Amino acid sequence: MPSMPGLPRSQGEAAEAALEPDVTESSHSNAQGHVEGTPGASGTHGRTPMPSDKHTPLPLIRIAMGLYESQVLRAGIELRLFEHLAAGPATAAELEKACGLHPTLSGDFLNALVAMDLLERDGSHYEMPARTAAHLDPRSPGYIGGALAFMQRQYPVWSDVTGNLRSGKALIDDLPGDIFMSGPYRTQQSTRGFAEGMDGLVTLFDGPLAQSFRWEQVTSFTDLGGCRGRLALKLAAAYPNLRAVVFDLPPLRPLFDELLQSAATDEPDEAGGAGLRSRVTFHAGDFFADPLPETQVYLLGHILHDWKPDKRRLLVERAFEHLPPGGSLLVYDSMIDGTPEVDRLNYLRSLHMRMIAGSSEYTIADGIRQLRDAGFTVEDPVALNEGTTLLVGNKPG
Ligand SMILES: C[S@@+](CC[C@H](N)C(=O)[O-])C[C@H]1O[C@@H](n2cnc3c(N)ncnc32)[C@H](O)[C@@H]1O
Repeated sequence: MPSMPGLPRSQGEAAEAALEPDVTESSHSNAQGHVEGTPGASGTHGRTPMPSDKHTPLPLIRIAMGLYESQVLRAGIELRLFEHLAAGPATAAELEKACGLHPTLSGDFLNALVAMDLLERDGSHYEMPARTAAHLDPRSPGYIGGALAFMQRQYPVWSDVTGNLRSGKALIDDLPGDIFMSGPYRTQQSTRGFAEGMDGLVTLFDGPLAQSFRWEQVTSFTDLGGCRGRLALKLAAAYPNLRAVVFDLPPLRPLFDELLQSAATDEPDEAGGAGLRSRVTFHAGDFFADPLPETQVYLLGHILHDWKPDKRRLLVERAFEHLPPGGSLLVYDSMIDGTPEVDRLNYLRSLHMRMIAGSSEYTIADGIRQLRDAGFTVEDPVALNEGTTLLVGNKPG
C-alpha cells in the first residue's frame, strides 16, 4: 500500500489501518468513549452463536492480534494500573485519574483487560484477581513486571523477521565487536536497562533454583556471567553457608555495588553466618580468557545460548578444568524439550537469539551431551519453570 501523503511509510500505514472499520463500529460509544451496554454480567446479548467450524480461523486471528494484547499489558504496567488496583477495586473514572488515562480510550482498555482475564469487573468497579496480583502487584514476591518489560523492549528485533529469514543475518553481524560491549553496554543508561532486565528475568525461576540443588552442602559458588548479582544475592540470602562470586564484565561492577548496598546489611544473618555484604563479591573478567575464581560450583545461567557451539564448548571445558574434583557446574537455559507448550516458547526464543547473536537455544539432549563431552556426569534435568531447564554436571571426585 502507498504511504499516506506527508507521513513516513510506517505512520502512513498506521493511519490507513486506523481508517479501516473498527471492531466496535456497530457499538455506540458515549461521550467518555465507554461502549454502551458493554458485555459484562449480561454476556453476549443473546447473539446467535456461530455455527461450529472445525477449521475456525480464530487461532490465527489471535496470533495476528497478539501484539495488541501484549501492548495493552505493557500499558497497564507502564501506567501503574496494577499497582493502583492492588489497593482495591476502582471505577474507570478513579483509574483515569490515578493513572492518567484519557477517558476516550480508558473504557475499551479496561474492558480488554477484563476480557483477557487479567482484571475482573463488578458493576462499575474493576478489580485485580489474586492470580493477576501474584505476578503484577509490584509488592508481590512473584512480581514479574521487570521480566515482561524486558521482553517487550525486544520487539524491535522482530520488526523484519521476513528480512532476517531471507538474509540469515543477525544484529551482531553489523556490530563492530562483542554483542555485549557494542550492544547493551555501549552507554551507562543502556547497561542499566539490560541489567534491570536480567534482574527481572531471574525472578521467573530464582525460587525453584534455590530448591533444585544441594546448596546447603556447599560453601562457595561463582555465577559466571551473573550480571549485577541479583541471583547470587538471592541464593546467598537463602543459604547463609554460601559465599558467592559474581563474575562478569567490568561495566557491571557499579551496578553490582549499587544492588549490594540496597539489598544487604552487614548484620550477621540468623544462622550466625557473615552478613551478606561480606559474602557476595564481584569479580570483573572475561570468562573466555581470564582465570576463573576457585569455587565448588559454577553457574552458567542464560549464557550458553548467547554463543555459537565452539564458544559454548570452551566455556563448559573451562568450567570443568577450574572446578575441584566433586565440584558441580549448573547450566540453565530455555532448552528445547520436545513438549509443545515448552517448545512453542523456546523455538521463538531460539529464533530471537539467532536474530540477535547468531546463536540459539539447544535441546536438553545436546546440553547433556555437551556437559558429558567435557567430562561431567549429568543428573536428571530439572524444569525450573515452563520454559527453563536446569542441568547439573558433576566433576568426578
Ligand atoms: C544473557 S545474560 C545472563 C545473565 C544472568 N546469568 C541470567 O541468568 O539472567 C549474559 C551475561 O553474560 C555476561 N558476559 C558476556 N560476555 C562475558 C564475558 N566474556 N565474560 C564474562 N561475562 C560475560 C554479560 O555481561 C551478561 O551479564
